[in-house]
Amino acid sequence: MDRIRIVGGRKLNGTIPISGAKNAALPLMIASLLTEETLILDNVPRLADVAQLERILGNHGVDIMVSGKRPGETADNGQTLHISAARIVDTTAPYELVSKMRASFWVLAPLVARMGDARVSMPGGCAIGTRPVDLLIMAVERLGATIDIEGGYVVARAPKGLRGSEIVFPKVTVSGTHTAVMAATLAKGTTVIENAAREPEIVDVADCLNKMGAHISGAGTRQIVIEGVAKLRGARHAVLPDRIETGTYAMAAAMTGGDVFLQNGRPELLQAALDVLVSAGVIVTPTNQGIRIVRNGAGLAPVDVTTAPFPEFPTDLQAQLMALMSCARGTSHITETIFENRFMHVGELTRLGARIQLEGERATIEGVPHLKGAPVMATDLRASVSLVIAALAAEGETTVNRVYHLDRGFERLEDKLGRCGAAIERLSG
Ligand code: EPZ
Repeated sequence: MDRIRIVGGRKLNGTIPISGAKNAALPLMIASLLTEETLILDNVPRLADVAQLERILGNHGVDIMVSGKRPGETADNGQTLHISAARIVDTTAPYELVSKMRASFWVLAPLVARMGDARVSMPGGCAIGTRPVDLLIMAVERLGATIDIEGGYVVARAPKGLRGSEIVFPKVTVSGTHTAVMAATLAKGTTVIENAAREPEIVDVADCLNKMGAHISGAGTRQIVIEGVAKLRGARHAVLPDRIETGTYAMAAAMTGGDVFLQNGRPELLQAALDVLVSAGVIVTPTNQGIRIVRNGAGLAPVDVTTAPFPEFPTDLQAQLMALMSCARGTSHITETIFENRFMHVGELTRLGARIQLEGERATIEGVPHLKGAPVMATDLRASVSLVIAALAAEGETTVNRVYHLDRGFERLEDKLGRCGAAIERLSG
């Protein structure tokens, strides 16, 4: 199993290109199931999760063609996928595939909307809490599907098609909103989603669906209205930049000090996180091409942050912020309100010398002058990358084990950081 070895203490200086967003690419690929025509997606990141979803879609009969390189293209350009679900041959998503990646459960909505039935394995346990799917099931039920749970599978049936309806989410859910929007595009009549998630990835998927002929308005607000259509067609869409990758490298630069330009990063996608960095003493300069992050000699000020749905501070940057605050001059507080048990990084950061106390959903981080390198590992993507951030500033050598978690969500991490001067390498085997 690959590991990443980091020798800490080097400032980061240079440009980091930001890839397409994993959490937009995945639902966009799933949306291809809604049409017989070809969906072309540009700027798709080369990630293990994308490859895994390609296998899952292949199992339903979807053909995916990856465009070859064009002149002038480098690894910094995302890939272009031509996705064709002309004939869906199987509406079952089996346990072996769904258990490897939670988001694959989301095929439920397009399959039942287009084919009238879907049989999708319950995703099962997850490293960041229980992560139920009750609200996804509620959404398709509200649109007229009957639901049975059979042998660990959710079986959704709507032989006469789905019907538009009102869907009121009792809590904000990204997966629930994606499900409701995708299912409603092909339902008869109007669907109104109340308390919808406002994440930029919801807006990106709605934009793509509208190019495919859907009638969706209000994406990015609390109320989304969808007029169902009989059919969707092919389209071409570029995946928006990854706000979590942007925020992660912003925190890495803040951690080591230096001057880094996050090319293609879009400040409005992560304003809350950038505001936190500014209050910690980091200089953040948005430009038309990206975001510049500078920290000079000055130390970091502590912060008090609570995660919440967009536009607030994202849970997917909570671990990275904790790594950063472990070197602040004073005591920080971070409260996690989205996922219970999303604190796997705490024990490992402590191994690097961080001082963190956990009390329920609230962490108290007492900044220390220096972290010290050690072998570490984590069981989740964002937790793993928080260890990389800590290691970049720690004295001596850190090995981050179980690198496959990083490969799920960060494209060429060691290359991007290495080009800015980090001493980082991947060790195979
Ligand atoms: C998405 O997960 C992201 N995943 C997560 O990113 C992200 O952390 C999360 O949204 C919150 O922003 C993808 O986009 C692929 P939710 P999702 O439905 O959609 C509860 C990463 O590292 N809930 O918004 O699964 C749930 O337990 C990942 O890239 C129910 O109670 O999150 C949580 O407390 C990790 N019932 C809250 O809602 C349900 O049926 C928000 O979950 C569904 C969710």
